[in-house]
Amino acid sequence: MEVKVVSGDITRIKVDAAIVNLFEGVEKPGGATGAVDQALGGIIGQLINEGEIKGKLNEVTLIHTMGKMEAERVVVVGLGKQEKFTYDTVRAVTAAACRFLRKIGAKRVATIIHGAGAGGLSMEGTVQALVEGSIIGLYIFRKHVTKEHGHDEIEELIVVSRDESNLPMLESSVKRGIVMAEATNFTRDMTNEPANYMTPSDLVEVARKVAVERGLEFNVLEREDMDKLGMGALLGVAQGSKQPPKLIVMSYRNNDSTATPLGFIGKGITFDSGGISIKPSEGMDEMKGDMAGGAAVIAAIAAIAELKPGINVTGLIPATENLPGGAALKPGDVLKAMNGKTIEVANTDAEGRLILADAICYAKKLGLAPLVDVATLTGACRVALGDICTGAMGNDQKLIDKVIKAGDEAGEKIWQLPMYEEYKEQNKSEVADVKNTGGRYAGAITAAQFLAEFSEDTPWVHLDIAGPSFIKKEQNYLIKGATGVAVRTLVNIALALAEEPQK
Ligand code: BES
Ligand code: MN
Ligand code: ZN
Repeated sequence: MEVKVVSGDITRIKVDAAIVNLFEGVEKPGGATGAVDQALGGIIGQLINEGEIKGKLNEVTLIHTMGKMEAERVVVVGLGKQEKFTYDTVRAVTAAACRFLRKIGAKRVATIIHGAGAGGLSMEGTVQALVEGSIIGLYIFRKHVTKEHGHDEIEELIVVSRDESNLPMLESSVKRGIVMAEATNFTRDMTNEPANYMTPSDLVEVARKVAVERGLEFNVLEREDMDKLGMGALLGVAQGSKQPPKLIVMSYRNNDSTATPLGFIGKGITFDSGGISIKPSEGMDEMKGDMAGGAAVIAAIAAIAELKPGINVTGLIPATENLPGGAALKPGDVLKAMNGKTIEVANTDAEGRLILADAICYAKKLGLAPLVDVATLTGACRVALGDICTGAMGNDQKLIDKVIKAGDEAGEKIWQLPMYEEYKEQNKSEVADVKNTGGRYAGAITAAQFLAEFSEDTPWVHLDIAGPSFIKKEQNYLIKGATGVAVRTLVNIALALAEEPQK
């Protein structure tokens, strides 16, 4: 789908459908919707009076224009209550309208800028959210379905601004929206891919392609390199799999060598069977998505390379399968991580924190700071927060606040969990420096406390996306399956830090 922005009057644009809107409770449509109502001889007002259009959130009403307007059809989308109107409302209603229009075969679609000016939203942010909602909302994953689609795609979305003077600004909003949405869908594609099509080596090739296309620095650590660096934790997880482990390193650099060297680390378990501490078979297929954090990091670096903020960002993705087998890690084994700390493997299913431990050590060796890791780390986080929200933990409150704010602007909910010292108690081992599980209580936090043993005094935030990375049913503008969560947050973090005075 092409997206562009033009200035003009929506009643005069020749398209298959024009999208206008209505807040709940409004009796007389104003603004661009009012202009369309007038062109249509008051039909929208009449439908409101008759109670057919209520303006309820995501309500979609189709009107045929019968030659009264250039557009063949008008779709009135409900914005819900004005006091609840946010950028996420804009994403949602655009997705709802576009999905409806795809279903009825519309190819060229125009839209007004929803609620422009309402609820303190900026015009720029609204246009960005609108573009995001259309592209994210129309996502489907059909790569392995050989049967025909049943419907065509919308070819063009035209955002119509009534004011010409802000066009250049809105063009950059459109661009940002496209980059953000495509990064989200790219993350979903990688995450939805079955594990037999997305091995660590496959993930390397996907990342390499991005790096070549965007002119990024790219490097992959192989088993021998990990051995030399003493990455015993990552190697331990990998030893049960026939697939060689990989540590992907990709960097976006702007020309300023003094810019902050931000580091992103993404868990890249391409399949998590649990290992010898094997998972129940029910739902195990979902563990093809245990590289969602890694995928988000790859897509975020790709997006950042397009937006070109004044910051340096390196993404690290430790990638391996977690499988049982004759050579696999066993409960009770002791591993030594890159920083020399020894780890008792109490449970081979707590593999994410093991591979992240070495990746965090390596990030520090590269001099990266601050660090943000993204991982489908614990079922406990999903139990605590559900599938609508990411858990955040870290060692630097200012950084945590920035990450939460970046998420908020992206329409990604992030909730902080406490990191009280007392939780560390649960990770104590009698045979090694630390143990990889802390028991049933506060499982998301003890996992983060384990990671804190490796980030040490480097400013760091951990995002546990086990809940929101993969959803079992439709959620607003997201369909079931991989959601691409965290990628827009990561991009926003890079954009925000680039605006700060550099050290
Ligand atoms: N990848 C899982 C966590 C997960 C669970 C992600 C559900 C997405 C949905 C992780 O490797 C894991 O197995 N964690 C264990 C840790 C436990 C053994 C301490 C868990 O949460 O059960
Ligand atoms: Mn696991
Ligand atoms: Zn896992």
